[in-house]
Amino acid sequence: MAKNESLNRANKAKQDEFYTQLNDISRELAHYASHFRGAVVFCNCDDPETSNFWKYFELNFTFLGLKKLIATHYETDRPSYKLELLRDMNGDGKIDKLDIVKTPLKQNGDFRSPECVEILKEADIVVTNPPFSLFREYVAQLMEYGKKFLIIGSQNAVSYKEFFPLICANEVWQGYYAGDMAFTVPASYEPKETRYWVDENGQKWRSMGNVCWFTNLDIPKRHEELLLFRTYTPEAYPAYVNYPAIEVSKTADIPCDYDGEMGVPITFLDKYNPEQFKILGFSLTLAGLMSDFVEKGTYLPGGKRFYIAEQNGKYRYKRCYDRIVIKRKKG
Ligand SMILES: C[S@@+](CC[C@H](N)C(=O)[O-])C[C@H]1O[C@@H](n2cnc3c(N)ncnc32)[C@H](O)[C@@H]1O
Repeated sequence: MAKNESLNRANKAKQDEFYTQLNDISRELAHYASHFRGAVVFCNCDDPETSNFWKYFELNFTFLGLKKLIATHYETDRPSYKLELLRDMNGDGKIDKLDIVKTPLKQNGDFRSPECVEILKEADIVVTNPPFSLFREYVAQLMEYGKKFLIIGSQNAVSYKEFFPLICANEVWQGYYAGDMAFTVPASYEPKETRYWVDENGQKWRSMGNVCWFTNLDIPKRHEELLLFRTYTPEAYPAYVNYPAIEVSKTADIPCDYDGEMGVPITFLDKYNPEQFKILGFSLTLAGLMSDFVEKGTYLPGGKRFYIAEQNGKYRYKRCYDRIVIKRKKG
């Protein structure tokens, strides 16, 4: 197999080529317009000739009052290029695609390449849907350079040991939209039984059910108070047997009168207001070892999940899903 072909295959095997739709981008970015005035925006995982992130900012350059738009294209194994939009280059009175400047890169446009890191340093806000397989590294780099960002990711990323502390420390939070999102994928992608279709133009699509936006741009949503209307009873909210907190299986059911620690689903983050709640940790790291389960061979030693004392078939305990541990702030 030729070297290029094998590299391309390896790249595709990571299944990173999910292209975001313009309407998903516009729906989210409509909430952030004030942040973009005078900003240098960098889309660093975007083929600017096809990316809808580039398209969105190109179309809204004047409306948002951007200072500069930059996008770099990634090639697995050869030098790439960048596109920039800065000012009315052709003097026709508007800033649009006729003013785009294309410049070759010496490197391949990898967001970690020194050339792209130099552009990153110049940027005020990074906006993109980064490769899922490099999410941890991608976020680590943004944090290292202290950048503002708005990116798409899987809600499951909160279980990453590198990422969750950023959520706890209120350095990253969820944006507006969370849930199902559909992406176009390359023709080379294999069909799948679920969450896959081909439209009338022969375009392949895939969808994901737990996608959200992560950002460190302040938004009104994270200051909205979640209205709580349930009251605590020990029967309705059983305590975990391997951690001192109660199980709240739905965010909407968080009791308004319980001051202790509570385990809530990951989707709580969509409603998280740091003035109302404090995030204490994640079940994956907090759950205590249950020797009882080790003996029966149904439990991973080391502590992974919370359990409640509820008969579950032949077992005396029921395992809960991943939980975020929170506490109400007094108020
Ligand atoms: C999930 S796709 C999203 C593409 C585009 N941002 C969008 O939303 O439509 C991630 C993109 O990152 C590119 N990519 C993969 N590895 C990369 C790297 N190391 N540096 C920069 N881009 C990379 C992939 O080729 C892919 O096009």
